[in-house]
Amino acid sequence: MHHFHYKDGEMYGEDVPVATIAEAVGTPFYLYAHATLVQHFKAFDGAFEGARHLTCFSMKSNSNLAILRLFAGLGGGVDIVSGGELFRALQAGIDPKKIVYSGVGKREEDLQFALSSDILMFNVESSQELMRLNEIAGTMKKKAGIAIRVNPDVDPKTHPYISTGLRENKFGIDIREAPEQYTVAAGLKHIRVLGVSCHIGSQLTEVGPFVDAVAKLMGLLGELEKAGIPVTFLDLGGGLGITYDQEDPPHPREYAGAIKQMVSRSNITLIFEPGRVIVGNAGILVAKVLYTKSTAEKNFIVVDAAMNDLMRPSLYNSFHAIQPVRKKGKGKLQADIVGPICESGDFLAKDREVDAYEPGDLLAVMSAGAYGFSMSSTYNSRPRVAEVMVRGDHFYSIRKRETYEDLVRGEEIPDFLLNG
Ligand code: LLP
Repeated sequence: MHHFHYKDGEMYGEDVPVATIAEAVGTPFYLYAHATLVQHFKAFDGAFEGARHLTCFSMKSNSNLAILRLFAGLGGGVDIVSGGELFRALQAGIDPKKIVYSGVGKREEDLQFALSSDILMFNVESSQELMRLNEIAGTMKKKAGIAIRVNPDVDPKTHPYISTGLRENKFGIDIREAPEQYTVAAGLKHIRVLGVSCHIGSQLTEVGPFVDAVAKLMGLLGELEKAGIPVTFLDLGGGLGITYDQEDPPHPREYAGAIKQMVSRSNITLIFEPGRVIVGNAGILVAKVLYTKSTAEKNFIVVDAAMNDLMRPSLYNSFHAIQPVRKKGKGKLQADIVGPICESGDFLAKDREVDAYEPGDLLAVMSAGAYGFSMSSTYNSRPRVAEVMVRGDHFYSIRKRETYEDLVRGEEIPDFLLNG
C-alpha cells in the first residue's frame, strides 16, 4: 500500500498533484509520502508487538535527516555502517542507545566516534576488528558492547550482489568459528558481549531463508549459554523484500509470525535492521521527458533523470515501474527510458511498454525510496536532485537541489597550475 494514486488521470502524492510539486521544485526530484513512511514503519514494528524488540532502520537505504527524524519520533533506532551515518543519525535526534553499527571495514576514527557517542552495539565482523575495538575502547576507558556478526551460510535466493549470508561473502564470521571468537571476546577487558547478529541479504521474497538463519542462530545462542556467555540481543538484520513488479514478498506479519515462535522461549530482545521494506515503496523519482527518438531497432524516451540519480537499473538491472504523472491516453509503445549520461548503461527502464510520452511530460519511476537518493552521485557533473516529503495537502523540501557551486565545493587548483 502506498500513497501515490490517480485522480482524474492525475498522479497525486497524498493530496497534492505531483505536477504541482514538479512546478515548484523543478525536475528531477525524489518524492516521499509521509503517510506511507509511517504506515510501513508501524507495520514492521507493530508486527513484533508482544516480543521485546527494537527496530533499527537501515539508513543506508535512505539517510535523509527528515526521514530519520520521522522514524526517531516513532521510537525507531538505526543501523549504521559508517561515521558519516552516525553523524547523520545524531543530527536527526536518534537515541544513541538505539544505534547498532555493522560493516566489515570500520575505521579507527569511526570506532572512536561511535564509542564516544555511546551507541548500543558494534556488530563485529572479524577477529582483527574485535581486537582493535578492545584496544581503542581501552584507551578511551570505555567498554564496547558487541555482537559478532555471524555468517550462517544460508542462501537468501536474491540477486548475488545483495546476498550477504553465504559462506563465500565477505560479511561476518563463519558461524562455525563464532563460539571460539565469543570465548575470546568474553575474555577481553574492554568488550561487553551483548548479542549475536546476522544479515543474510536484501530483497528476500520468502521467509524460508530467515527461518533457516534464525534456527542456526538459536543453536549458537544455546551453545553460548552453555559456555557461560549469555547474550541479550539477537539482531536479525534487514532484508525483507518489496513488490517492484510481480514479486509477492511476505508481509512483516508473516515474517514476524515465523520468527516470534522460534525465539519466544528465550529471554532476548530482537533487533531488526529493515531498510527497503520501510522506505522502498514510499518514494518515487519524478523526471521530465526531454526528447523522444526512434531508431530502426528501438524507441528511446530521453528524460532528465539518469543513472547517477537512480543507479539500481544500471547496477542490478532492477525493475522500476514507470508511470505517467498525467495520463494522456495517447497510446502505448515499447521503449527504453534513458537519461542524459554518456553511457549505454544509463537507463531507468529497458524494452518497457510505456505511455507514448512527449517532450515536457512528467513520469514517475516508482518504488525508488530505498537505495535511490542514497546511492546517487554527481557523475557527469550532474548536481544531486531535490528531495521532497508530501504530507496531506502540504509538501516540504527535505533536501535542496544541489547547485553547480556545490559540485566544486572543496576542489582546489594548486598554485603551480594557476601561475604556470
Ligand atoms: N543490515 C545490514 C547489515 C545490511 O547490510 C543491509 C543492507 C540492511 C540491514 C538493510 O537491508 P534491507 O532491509 O534494505 O534489505 N543497494 C542494494 C541493496 C544493498 C543492501 C545492502 N545491505 C539495492 O539497491 O538493492
